[in-house]
Amino acid sequence: MKIVVIQGPNLNMLGIREQNIYGPMKLEQIHAQMKDVATQNGAEIEFFQSNLEGEIVDKIQECYGEADGLIINAAAYTHTSIAIRDAISAVSLPAIEVHISNINRREDFRQKNMIAPVCTSSVIGFGPFGYHLAMMGMLQIMNEIKAAQEAQAQAQQQQA
Ligand code: DQA
Repeated sequence: MKIVVIQGPNLNMLGIREQNIYGPMKLEQIHAQMKDVATQNGAEIEFFQSNLEGEIVDKIQECYGEADGLIINAAAYTHTSIAIRDAISAVSLPAIEVHISNINRREDFRQKNMIAPVCTSSVIGFGPFGYHLAMMGMLQIMNEIKAAQEAQAQAQQQQA
């Protein structure tokens, strides 16, 4: 079971940028916590951060056939990127989007969300803890998929 975590533009500046909105935690610290949870649950995890839209599209495409689920904070591209939305849609993987801040309570230009409609769910406004919630959600989704596959295999065996 492999989870890929994709972080969009300026998230490499966490701990420095607008601490009143995003808090003091650095991206590396968030990722270290996620890795601990993954390890405890026997999951493989990979982290990717880019400030470039095309690189994010490439990374999502690479997940096809390679990963079982995506956790993505597309950051500012959330509000503008049809390309990232289409890439998520194209790979048909369970995807959870995270936003550290509550984008619903912020500026008008953050009210448009291109990504949410193609994601399984969204975790918004919990601060960096949202990544932990997304991990728990993704592990639950993976367990449900595994249970459904096992039930299907058992039903097929009984039919044979
Ligand atoms: C963000 C919210 C976006 O509007 C913003 O552009 C970001 C971070 C968040 O995590 O709260 O860079 O995705």
